[in-house]
Amino acid sequence: MTIVIKNAEEIEAMRRACRLASEVLDMLTPHVRAGVTTKEIDRLAHDYMVNVQGGVPATLNYQPPGYPPYPASLCTSLNDVVCHGIPDERPLKNGDILNIDVTIIKDGFHGDNSRMFVIGEGSIAARRLVQITYEAMWKGIVKVRPGARLGDIGHAIQTYAENAGFSIVREYCGHGVGRRFHEEPQVLHYGRPGTLEELQPGMIFTIEPMINAGRRDIKEDRKGNRPYDGWTIVTRDRSLSAQWEHTVLVTDSGYEVLTLSAGSPPPPDFVTPALAAS
Ligand code: MF3
Ligand code: CO
Ligand code: CO
Repeated sequence: MTIVIKNAEEIEAMRRACRLASEVLDMLTPHVRAGVTTKEIDRLAHDYMVNVQGGVPATLNYQPPGYPPYPASLCTSLNDVVCHGIPDERPLKNGDILNIDVTIIKDGFHGDNSRMFVIGEGSIAARRLVQITYEAMWKGIVKVRPGARLGDIGHAIQTYAENAGFSIVREYCGHGVGRRFHEEPQVLHYGRPGTLEELQPGMIFTIEPMINAGRRDIKEDRKGNRPYDGWTIVTRDRSLSAQWEHTVLVTDSGYEVLTLSAGSPPPPDFVTPALAAS
């Protein structure tokens, strides 16, 4: 299989799907606070995607080989959960950090977007992890232009995160996205400059680093003697983990972030208008 280069029509459809994914997060934002359960957040998102946006939650019953069907309309990864957390009945509490990852299918195309939320004030350490992870994602995004290589993106993210004293999860990566949820290429969040696939206009992929406050190792979340849910991944050392995700188009001159909407947090200061112009 090879990397799909999207044509003008497909790019337009991806712009729409990606904006909707971001708007789900905008809609959820005022609800993400202490006392609310992640199941309630999932329900709000499900109904919005289906009834307001006329889309389909891509994660609901999503079943890659070797996995059980994913049982919710988004992922909620709390504190030491690295990714693929399943919404449940536990209320959020002050000091929690939460990733909400939304993927919607609209007119056959997938928009994939996630943000971090700090419940209440949050500790200085937690806020720093969330902030550095956001900046690390953007360090990768600004590398995107024709002629650059995937290794340039991974290297920029890894260097930034590790210089801050954090570690990069290796087992999960960004991915091409379009008519299929997970397409080629794999977008590693670590690597060496000048290596791997060369970027070409019309490629669309996600950049979604998972960054741990402690060691990079992960494990399946097996709670006591209950059976594993098949999805939830936690840090092996139970340190905090953060993740942000954007879907990005390679343009003729640089990049266009597709998963933007009115409520998207602004890019960090190092993202100059010249870099962002596409
Ligand atoms: N949205 C995730 C990603 O960024 C994938 C979630 S798959 C699920 O690739 F089944 F866990 F929902
Ligand atoms: Co993704
Ligand atoms: Co996602």
